Amino acid sequence: MIFYYSGTGNTRWVAQQMGRLTGDKVVAMTDYMNHPELHTIIPTESVGICFPVYGWDAPAIAYDFMQSLQTELEFSPPYLYYICTMGDDIGLTGQRLQQAATSLGWCFSAGFSLQMPNTYVCLPGFNVDSTEVRDAKLARVPHALQGIAENIMERHTGIFQLIPGRFAWLKTNVIGGYFRKRLMSDRKFEVSTACTGCGKCETVCPVGNILMQRGRPTWQGHCTMCLACYHHCPHHALHWGSETRKKGQYLLTMHIKDND
Ligand SMILES: Cc1cc2nc3c(=O)[nH]c(=O)nc-3n(C[C@H](O)[C@H](O)[C@H](O)COP(=O)(O)O)c2cc1C
Repeated sequence: MIFYYSGTGNTRWVAQQMGRLTGDKVVAMTDYMNHPELHTIIPTESVGICFPVYGWDAPAIAYDFMQSLQTELEFSPPYLYYICTMGDDIGLTGQRLQQAATSLGWCFSAGFSLQMPNTYVCLPGFNVDSTEVRDAKLARVPHALQGIAENIMERHTGIFQLIPGRFAWLKTNVIGGYFRKRLMSDRKFEVSTACTGCGKCETVCPVGNILMQRGRPTWQGHCTMCLACYHHCPHHALHWGSETRKKGQYLLTMHIKDND
């Protein structure tokens, strides 16, 4: 079974492509966490965990998911792997994940990172990728996925194809630590006059953190910072402080064909 968490669609698409290549069932982490009884995992099947990298680490929801999976399962997955998507690099995400697995009595057999178009736009110097960079990243994905799928279907162990990037320790432990503690919050979201009250943001929030009240979105304080609301808004009306007003929007579905 392949589990995923995704804000703007990169990771969902990666998980779906993996499902197509491996024949494994694909389930949103949130669906499993809400209704574990609907998704029976066979003791012999492999378990894949797909997530976007946030602040050079896995999002908190991925760790929560692993915890709830471990609570539900009466066995250790015989072949456990992860695929993380990121704009540039993952720092020590792999190490952090392996530590989390160890504390649950598990061990990852394989792990992969896959560069996808960037979605982080909230700080100065960060924006969506240029058309050229975005298209170049997307063009590389099918071949990369094929390789990952082969490794998984043949259950190769000890395969960790990761891009930690430069200063990985510093990024994950110092910069990322501050980022995850102080900047992963919905308190700075604002709604501009361009908002029509269409409710798209409420619909796309993967954790149900947005409620429409008097025709305007309100954030409920359990945001994962996936930015699905920001990127999906048809009027570019949702902002994280003033920083995102001049930033771009990105949705994977605008750049892939239906049968991709
Ligand atoms: C809050 C946040 C933090 C991010 N941090 C990183 C990062 O540390 N390194 C990186 O390369 N990309 C980072 N990104 C980019 C995403 O990991 C990347 O675009 C991912 O593919 C988005 O997946 P999704 O479309 O499934 O949400 C970040 C994106 C967000 C929204």
